[in-house]
Amino acid sequence: MSTMSDKITVPEIRSRKGGPKVTMVTAYDYPTAVIADNAGVDIILVGDSVANVVHGMDTTLEIGIDEIVLHTRAVNRAKPEALVVADMPWLSFHVSQEDTIRNAGRLVQEGGAEAVKLEGGRKRVPFIEAILDAEIPVMGHVGLTPQSVHAMGGFKVQGKMVEAAKEMIADAKALADAGCFSIVIEGVPDVLGEIISKEVDVPTIGIGAGPGTDGQVLVFHDVLGLGSGRYPKFVRSYAHLADDAVKALKTFRGDVESGLFPGNAESYHVSDEVVAELLKGTQSD
Ligand code: KIV
Repeated sequence: MSTMSDKITVPEIRSRKGGPKVTMVTAYDYPTAVIADNAGVDIILVGDSVANVVHGMDTTLEIGIDEIVLHTRAVNRAKPEALVVADMPWLSFHVSQEDTIRNAGRLVQEGGAEAVKLEGGRKRVPFIEAILDAEIPVMGHVGLTPQSVHAMGGFKVQGKMVEAAKEMIADAKALADAGCFSIVIEGVPDVLGEIISKEVDVPTIGIGAGPGTDGQVLVFHDVLGLGSGRYPKFVRSYAHLADDAVKALKTFRGDVESGLFPGNAESYHVSDEVVAELLKGTQSD
């Protein structure tokens, strides 16, 4: 829980180029935000990955600004010390600058986000500038950008060929020059993650981009093993909570069926006199 002085701010993250490394994790609701904040992460990302992870959708293209606002509000109620960054979903920053500012503004004004993140390179710069002009800090996102799934022909590692890698370096530089305070690099060869991190003067936060970035981000449910069990290569699960949850619920079911739950400790009681009266009443006929 934040007492404003402990709050991690955008300028603090911006100053972390060269270390200490930045840790970011997604959270989509109040309890996961509390857990992430108690773990001391620097940034909580209300990612549009909520589409897949929580809503069971196939792609992030199906989630809209209303849902991200709702999830951001839930996260914000945890009053985290971590910086809260909300993802701008697909089509919320593609139509017009006015529309883009309004959508970013909703994430801040209604959701309580302290910054927004959006996917894409140079062609998104005018929209980034418009958001920055409204005093909203922006985190960039290059590489495997899931909102471009159809354009990429699937969720494929990006920047494997020299030309594509050079384009991505130019994109990342343009985002930094436009004023992004940090940049996510997703799904690229480790060498490219390292080169981009050297080329831009803002902290880079990698996911499937090797160890050479200024920070790392993972999806909450992946870190804790709360997902389907099929995780991408770049994930490390530090717990297996889905397995633990199934075990716990099976035990609960067994206890219900055998009558072991609820027990004396989990039941409400009245005085012996009241019990006696109640039993008399029911035994009369
Ligand atoms: O939506 C998300 O979770 C993300 C991270 C993978 C960076 O964008």
